Amino acid sequence: MTVVKNICCIGAGYVGGPTCAVLAYKCPDIKVTIVDLSEARIAAWNSSNLPIYEPGLDEVVFECRGKNLFFSTNVDAAIQEADLIFVSVNTPTKKSGMGAGMAADLAYIESATRRIAEVSTSSKIVVEKSTVPCRTAQSMRTILDANSTSEIHFDILSNPEFLAEGTAIKDLLNPDRVLIGALQTESGIEAQNALVDVYTHWVPKERVITTNLWSSELSKLAANAMLAQRISSINALSAICEATGADVDEVAFACGKDTRLGSKFLKASVGFGGSCFQKDILNLVYLSQQLNLPEVADYWQQVVIMNEYQKKRFVRNIISTLFNTITNKKIAVLGFAFKKDTGDTRESAAITLIKDFMQENARVAIYDPKVEPQQIYMDLSEPGVVDTQKEVEKKVQICQSAYEAADGADAVIIVTEWDEFRDDQLDYSKIYAGMHKPAFLFDGRLLINAQKLRQIGFKVSVIGKNELAGTA
Ligand code: UDX
Ligand code: ADP
Repeated sequence: MTVVKNICCIGAGYVGGPTCAVLAYKCPDIKVTIVDLSEARIAAWNSSNLPIYEPGLDEVVFECRGKNLFFSTNVDAAIQEADLIFVSVNTPTKKSGMGAGMAADLAYIESATRRIAEVSTSSKIVVEKSTVPCRTAQSMRTILDANSTSEIHFDILSNPEFLAEGTAIKDLLNPDRVLIGALQTESGIEAQNALVDVYTHWVPKERVITTNLWSSELSKLAANAMLAQRISSINALSAICEATGADVDEVAFACGKDTRLGSKFLKASVGFGGSCFQKDILNLVYLSQQLNLPEVADYWQQVVIMNEYQKKRFVRNIISTLFNTITNKKIAVLGFAFKKDTGDTRESAAITLIKDFMQENARVAIYDPKVEPQQIYMDLSEPGVVDTQKEVEKKVQICQSAYEAADGADAVIIVTEWDEFRDDQLDYSKIYAGMHKPAFLFDGRLLINAQKLRQIGFKVSVIGKNELAGTA
C-alpha cells in the first residue's frame, strides 16, 4: 500500500496555494512544498502579505508555514523529494493557433509534466489539479510513460478542484465532494487509494468519490457548465422581468423553493466572470466540436452568448437612460473584482462594461476594496495599442472610496456585490449629495433596496426589475 508522506504542488496560484495550504493544515504528518517559477509569487507566499486575498487563508498558512508547509522556487528538488505531485499550473484559453479563443493552452501543463519526467529519480503519483480539457491526463501519461524505466513508474490521477474564490478555505475544509479519477489498472487504483487516504484525514469517506479518469475530467467541466447555465438562465429571465414588471428576485425565490431546482446560483447579475466558467464552457464547446457533435457545442455556446448579451444589455440600458449619451459624463463604477471577497479580476464583467464606457468617451471613476490599481490598468489596456496604459489613465480614475468615485458623477454603477456597497453600510444620502442631478444608480447585482434609494432622490435601475416591481 502506498502511503503519501511528501507532496509537491507545482503552481502557487489561486488553486495550488489554498488547496495545498489546507492539505498541510489538515495533514501534519505530510510535508507539503508548493513551488512556482515566479520568484515574486513565492516571496509573497513567504511574507506576511500573501499574494492572494482569501478569507481564512492567512490563518491556515501562518499556522503551518515552516512546519510542514514550504514555498520554494526550487522546482526540481521538490519534485525529486515528493511521492505525490499536484500539477496546479495555469491553463488559460488559447489566444492564437488552432482552437484560439476556445481551447485551453496546455503549454504550462506540458512543461511541468516534462520537468517531472526529466528530474524524477523515483516513482511518483502525478495528480492533474488544474482545470483541463478531457483527455489531458492521456497526454501527460504519454510524456511520463516515455520517460519511465523499470525503476521509475508514474501513475496519473485527475483530482479537479471545486473551490470557489472568496470561500476557498471553507470549501476546502468542508467540500461537498472530492473527486479522484484514475485509470482502472492495479497500480492506478493503488495510487487512487493513496490520495483517498490523504483526503480522509479530514473529509468523510463517503464524500470522496472515485471514478475513471475521463469521468473525473469531464465532471469538472460539466459542473462549471451547469452552474454557469443556471446563471445564464436566470439572466435570460431577468430581461423578461424588466419588460413585464415581474421581479427576478421573486421569480428566483419561487423557482428555487422547488427542491428539484434548489436556490443556489439563481442570482441574476450583470454577467458571470471568473477564471473558470467561460473557459470551461468553451473547452466543452471545443471538445463537442472535435467529437463532431455540433448541436451539443451550440447548446453550451449559448450559455456564453447569453452572458455577453447580459453585459451589453446592461450597458445599453445605462446609455439610453442617460439620454442616449455618456460622452464626458462621469460614471462611477463600484467594484472591479469578478465577485465579492476576492481581488481576482479574471473575466470580470467590470472589464467589458468599462471598456464600453471608455469607447463612448465617458470619464470612469473606479473603486474596488481589494483590486490593485495596476491590475485595473492592465485589464483595461488593449494589446497592440501604443501607450495603452496612458490612454487608459486619461479616461479612468482609480479611487480610494465609493464616495470619491461618486463625487460629481452622473451615474453610479454597482458591478461587484461587495458588502460595503449595501445600502445599510454605504451612506447613499452622502453619495447622492455629491452627484450631478439627476443622479442615476444602476444596480447590476440586486444589492440595494431600490425603493429606499428612490426616496433619497436617485433614479434607480436594477437588473431584472422595473419601476413597477415591488409596488404593484
Ligand atoms: C467557480 C465554481 O463555483 C467552482 O466550483 C469552480 O471550482 C471554479 O469556478 P468561482 O469562479 O470562484 O468558482 O466563483 P463562483 O462563485 O462560481 O462565481 C462565478 C461568477 O458567477 C461570479 O462572477 C459570480 O458573481 C457569478 N454568479 C454566481 C452570479 O452572477 N449569480 C449567482 O447566482 C452565482
Ligand atoms: P490558477 O487559478 O489555475 O491557480 P494561476 O495563474 O493563479 O492559476 O497560478 C498558476 C501558477 O503556476 C502561476 O503562479 C505560474 O507561475 C505557475 N506555473 C506555471 N507553469 C509552471 C511550471 N512549469 N513550474 C512551476 N510553476 C509554474
